[in-house]
Amino acid sequence: MRPLNENDVTAEELFVNRRKFLKLGAAGLVANSAVMDLLAKEFMPKANLQYVKDSNPEQLVLNSFEQITSYNNFYEFTTSKEGVKYLAHTLKTDPWSIEIDGLVEKPFVIDVQDLIKKYTLQERIYRFRCVEGWSMVVPWVGFELSQLIKDVKVLSKAKYIRFETKYDDEMFPDQSRGLFAALDYPYAEGLRLDEAMNPLSLMAVGLYGKTLENQNGAPLRLVVPWKYGFKSIKSISKISFVEKEPLNSWQKSNPNEYGFFANVNPEVDHPRWSQKRERVLGQLFKQRTLMFNGYEKEVAHLYKNMDLTRYF
Ligand code: MTE
Repeated sequence: MRPLNENDVTAEELFVNRRKFLKLGAAGLVANSAVMDLLAKEFMPKANLQYVKDSNPEQLVLNSFEQITSYNNFYEFTTSKEGVKYLAHTLKTDPWSIEIDGLVEKPFVIDVQDLIKKYTLQERIYRFRCVEGWSMVVPWVGFELSQLIKDVKVLSKAKYIRFETKYDDEMFPDQSRGLFAALDYPYAEGLRLDEAMNPLSLMAVGLYGKTLENQNGAPLRLVVPWKYGFKSIKSISKISFVEKEPLNSWQKSNPNEYGFFANVNPEVDHPRWSQKRERVLGQLFKQRTLMFNGYEKEVAHLYKNMDLTRYF
């Protein structure tokens, strides 16, 4: 399926078809995908990014822009998934600088737009699976993390990459709640360097052809599609190359439930729920969760000889 834009449908078409839909809807045709597509178009943003399209060889069915931007985890705003988008306007992304430090030839600070300009943007249609058991399919736009890593000339001692979300309690209300905050901020995440170099690891700057909405982690976020969603850190302001495995926010808050690797694995249950199945946003019935979220061919070699029940 190719990303749609508002020019794909005229206002008149929409009006006529919406009336048809309302009539047919009563007759139980809600699942008719053509009609659902048409409704989804109504909320389609105006594309403002130039990028190479993903041919979507697996024919993944995309979640709508509305679904992807209305059901979010972004604890810096609130723990209410439906509430994030109403609070996210306080995030100011222009100007926004990214600090790159640690074990690199020359640490530096760069404006996010200058960083993005260096790369050809690509669309990546990925499955996205949250550790809580819901999932969606998102047409991200971004560039490969491996490109950035090559450019910054990492020193041989570096074994891991660590990311940090901005700390600014005027932009992020939950950061000003001190002891009562939902998490210990700044939100942090990490990858082993070989994981970060995998061609699937993406620095996302948009979705559905448009610059990221604040609630999805503007202006720059990580997307690691074979890992649970919490690894995909939002609104990054610092990237560090380090020797030791970094502690991520969820591991820090509850080490018995969340590990460093967080690979999607239907055989390893969360201590409080099964990971065998998932609810795709907008679908009535749950579906089977795939090993490494369906990216086994691309990433299984990274974990050869590792006990995945121990390194969860
Ligand atoms: N990044 C930051 N900074 N803060 C967060 O609370 N939540 C994580 C991840 N990145 C989170 C974050 C979790 S738990 C998930 S499932 C995904 O973002 C959700 O991404 P989405 O809202 O774009 O679907």
